[in-house]
Amino acid sequence: MSRDHVNQADLVRFADERVNLKREDAAELRAQANRLRDKLEGYLADHPDFALKKMLLSGSLAKGTALKSISDIDVACYIASESAPEKIADLIEWLAKKLETAFPNFKPEQIKRKTYSVGVNFISTGNEVDVVPILYDGDPEWRGHLISQETGEKLMTSVPMHLDFIRKRKAENERHYAQIVRLLKFWCQLRKQEDEKFRFKSFMVELIVAYLADRGLALDDYASALAKIFAYLANDDFETVIAFDDYYDPGECAASTDPVRIWDPVNCENNVATLYTPENKSRISEAALDAGDAIDSALRAITKGETVRYWQKVFGPTFNP
Ligand SMILES: Nc1ncnc2c1ncn2[C@@H]1O[C@H](COP(=O)(O)OP(=O)(O)OP(=O)(O)O)[C@@H](O)[C@H]1O
Ligand SMILES: [Mg+2]
Repeated sequence: MSRDHVNQADLVRFADERVNLKREDAAELRAQANRLRDKLEGYLADHPDFALKKMLLSGSLAKGTALKSISDIDVACYIASESAPEKIADLIEWLAKKLETAFPNFKPEQIKRKTYSVGVNFISTGNEVDVVPILYDGDPEWRGHLISQETGEKLMTSVPMHLDFIRKRKAENERHYAQIVRLLKFWCQLRKQEDEKFRFKSFMVELIVAYLADRGLALDDYASALAKIFAYLANDDFETVIAFDDYYDPGECAASTDPVRIWDPVNCENNVATLYTPENKSRISEAALDAGDAIDSALRAITKGETVRYWQKVFGPTFNP
């Protein structure tokens, strides 16, 4: 039995050592983002009419799904819509200027205009906070138009509601939901390294795991959970429309001819996977088929060496229990 060679404890140890962002590092990065948030609050206390209303840690650091290889800290910045320029390039320039005003201690070169966001660089640590604009009209649930970091499109959504959605899934599968997501994100990262055309957005991974867990998939045995998720991806080939009843009735989701349909849990007119082509889709299904086969083989292998070699097909050469 190959659980003797690679067991749950080995997978947990691998995750801790190679996959997960360490708790202390996450705390430090969060603290850095929160210092910016507090600075903005301080500025707003003296300038209540200022157009930037709030900063909120979004992304994987807020959700507890960050990998060790995390590259930037995502922060959503709520902007009073009436004062913001319409065109994205103008909006970014305008946001950068507002950030320069609110954070006068930052040197100009620390505030970097990007295509759809503004990077704020901390010299001491080299970390970059990616400030993503959300056009905001005062909704109490902090719904607003998020500027898509992929297309610059304005997407009606709510980051705090996303965080609640994920928090709920984490509470239902304590430790395991976030761990399965991180292991899958790590797998995606390896696939991207070997195939530049492979893409599988983190938020999509999180929503698929939530969808399967909501329908009874057990997440506490990682080998078995991963094998089942890969089998689902390979067999379903994104035929199933993914939607959630937390904030709307999935029956009301817009009909869509997009190849992959994964509706935003707070807005069933926003397909999180709208950019995914049939080619993107089949690359994920094919990679999932290989990964599922490798785990099945690992579970049947006789020797330790053979078992580890199969797991390495999934998690790469650093998997070495
Ligand atoms: N298409 C979208 N529609 C609605 N919200 C989105 C969309 N894309 C991103 N978001 C919001 O931005 C957050 C971060 O997105 P994403 O999952 O791409 O990155 P991440 O969780 O920070 O992962 P990574 O570790 O890859 O950086 C999501 O949790 C969600 O709140
Ligand atoms: Mg991120």
